[in-house]
Amino acid sequence: MPGLVNEKARIVSNDQVGPRLHVMVLEAPVLAKSIMPGQFVHMKVPGAPDHILRRPFSIYARDVQACTVDVLYQEVGTLTRFMPSLACGQEAELIGPIGNQWSAPARFADSACTHALLVGGGVGAAPLFMLAESLRALGCPTDVVLGAQTKDAIIARERYESLLGFEPFCATDDGTYGRAGFCTSLVEERLAQGCAYDGAPYDYLAVCGPEPLMRIVAGYGAQAGVYTEVSMEKRMACGIGACLSCVVDTVDGKRRSCVDGPIFDAAKVVW
Ligand SMILES: Cc1cc2nc3c(=O)[nH]c(=O)nc-3n(C[C@H](O)[C@H](O)[C@H](O)COP(=O)(O)OP(=O)(O)OC[C@H]3O[C@@H](n4cnc5c(N)ncnc54)[C@H](O)[C@@H]3O)c2cc1C
Ligand code: FES
Repeated sequence: MPGLVNEKARIVSNDQVGPRLHVMVLEAPVLAKSIMPGQFVHMKVPGAPDHILRRPFSIYARDVQACTVDVLYQEVGTLTRFMPSLACGQEAELIGPIGNQWSAPARFADSACTHALLVGGGVGAAPLFMLAESLRALGCPTDVVLGAQTKDAIIARERYESLLGFEPFCATDDGTYGRAGFCTSLVEERLAQGCAYDGAPYDYLAVCGPEPLMRIVAGYGAQAGVYTEVSMEKRMACGIGACLSCVVDTVDGKRRSCVDGPIFDAAKVVW
């Protein structure tokens, strides 16, 4: 993995932004410059119990001028429940950039991606934001669908809105914001109607979220004949390709999500 660093990163802020959801901003000048959309870091935090291994997190956003990276994290278990107790000024360690990248910017350069649809479920909205930024910078019409359990959990909505200049298509399971129910119905609708900008059919679909969401959207993409990529957020131990804890079954055999992914051609994943 060329360019891999283990960067000591000072915590600049660590704020709760929704139910069990937090954004940690870290000063990491090397990673802020080098990390690409879709890649992730393997994080070690100070004071965590010794038996806790590093944990993988996507970079939600970066600020090259301020030399910072943002991590959007959800409390699910031992480490992520400990992380909100971390204070500004404490130092985490980030190994990265790890993994491959969303292919859309390169496909745009080859004219294979002209209209993109990005679908984020829950914290799956995080690894898509830098992709949305780079597609916008290239001038690629890009729509975003976000799904969450409830209104307070669609925390990425405003950030996407200020980037896109219009609101992303939103759905909440409990109907407190946007379409009521799963965001899959919005994806079906978008694929049928085409890009909100000019009605043209999408030719690139990127999805990150719970595996059932990715499987369903991958099916829609296949049906519609749209090239679809998924970010497979498997549990990871080593993060460097050595332990095989993160294996994804594909039509080409078993692949390690940490080094062969996390981005996979959805048509190749055996769901
Ligand atoms: C490439 C990649 C990028 C990721 N990006 C983000 C991100 O931006 N924000 C974020 O909040 N999380 C992200 N995750 C998931 C994050 O790594 C896990 O939530 C974290 O490792 C949980 O650690 P823990 O010690 O709190 O939980 P643990 O105590 O280890 O586990 C608690 C529970 O969560 C489940 N779990 C743990 N990891 C995962 C996983 N990867 N998928 C499904 N279930 C899991 C366990 O099975 C268990 O039930 C990412 C994972 C990968 C592989
Ligand atoms: S996490 Fe060890 S091989 Fe992927």
